[in-house]
Amino acid sequence: MPHSKRIGTPLSASAFKVMLLGAGELGKEVIIALQRLGVEVIAVDRYANAPGHQVAHRSHVIDMTDAQALRALVEQERPDLIVPEIEAIATDALAAIEADGVAEVIPTARATQLTMNREGIRCLAAEELGVATSPYAFAESCAQLQAAIDGGIGYPCVIKPVMSSSGKGQSVIRSEADVAPAWDYAMAGGRVKGGRVIVEGFIQFDYEITLLTVRAINPATGLVDTYFCEPIGHVQVNGDYVESWQPQPMATLALQRSRDIAHRVTEALGGRGVFGVELFIKGDEVWFSEVSPRPHDTGLVTLCSQRFSEFELHARAILGLPVDTGLREPGASAVIYGGLDEAGIAFEGVQQALAVPRSDLRLFGKPESFAKRRMGVALANGSSIAEARQRATAAAACVKPVSSR
Ligand SMILES: Nc1ncnc2c1ncn2[C@@H]1O[C@H](COP(=O)(O)OP(=O)(O)OP(=O)(O)O)[C@@H](O)[C@H]1O
Ligand SMILES: [Mg+2]
Repeated sequence: MPHSKRIGTPLSASAFKVMLLGAGELGKEVIIALQRLGVEVIAVDRYANAPGHQVAHRSHVIDMTDAQALRALVEQERPDLIVPEIEAIATDALAAIEADGVAEVIPTARATQLTMNREGIRCLAAEELGVATSPYAFAESCAQLQAAIDGGIGYPCVIKPVMSSSGKGQSVIRSEADVAPAWDYAMAGGRVKGGRVIVEGFIQFDYEITLLTVRAINPATGLVDTYFCEPIGHVQVNGDYVESWQPQPMATLALQRSRDIAHRVTEALGGRGVFGVELFIKGDEVWFSEVSPRPHDTGLVTLCSQRFSEFELHARAILGLPVDTGLREPGASAVIYGGLDEAGIAFEGVQQALAVPRSDLRLFGKPESFAKRRMGVALANGSSIAEARQRATAAAACVKPVSSR
């Protein structure tokens, strides 16, 4: 078992090696956490100078959806663990790598296969595990979509490409006139062309959470146990997260149900590591939405709110080490978007942002900015969630991406 292998010295024959597939802002923090534990880290992304490339021992640029290229790189680098950070990966190649015993895939190759497609994880949760979800159907044409809505999903409903993330190609529609535009939008926004869509009944939730759930070895038993972080509340705009905070206060029963769902879903996916379980809450009612088998973007808040961030927890869990999911103090995060389309931008207002009490900042170092690309995040603590949110938002608002031309 790779996780029982000792940690050695990076860049020597005894090195314990981890390969990140995807080296964005979340991967960058995982890499830093691994390096602090003496692990040799190889960062892979589809473009040069990705955030994680800038802090790894070695970096590579490949098309991770190319199974042959992926396999060749893994055989060249021979990592002990492979840690996918994104969904757009040739997951069949990961399954073969796992089956051949070449490297261990985090959390499991099957989990990456099931979660890269909304259909796989939805069917597992709703049909195999019997977990409550929004009503849903799949469609391969605009006519099928209309039929699914008329056949019971109704309005309002949410349409998403089965292969997409960060709200890409996603729309909420309210009437028949919206169906064709939503279909076209989904076709344009999906990761693969000519794909399927999922149509979901709109859940009128009171609030939504990410329940970070960690599958890690319990040192007392030597077996994998399930640990929960405090729930994270968040606000999404057009399917993309803009603000998050921890802890999100919850009724006892709703929290218990959330943990039960998270436990069952993550157990079915297996392996070790952090999972971001997304849930909708209304009173005591809880619906499962989706799960990331890796740290979650809304969990960036844990960089300031927990003793160990979700990235440090992921590093520990995948290495087979004990975890501590305890909250330190209330915290919040607020996203900083690029605001302009340009390479090599600069940031003004950093000084003002960090003058906000108890604030902190992450600027990810992405080589190219887009208006809606996440370029950084402001973090803040407070004696209450309201105070932490107010500070994080104020700090984020101070940071102005500007042209360096
Ligand atoms: N059935 C639904 N009812 C109500 N709101 C929904 C529904 N589905 C999605 N949403 C809203 O849209 C957001 C994004 O949806 P979802 O998580 O499925 O998309 P995504 O593209 O995977 O986003 P991300 O990658 O940022 O998690 C949700 O967090 C929620 O706010
Ligand atoms: Mg989501």
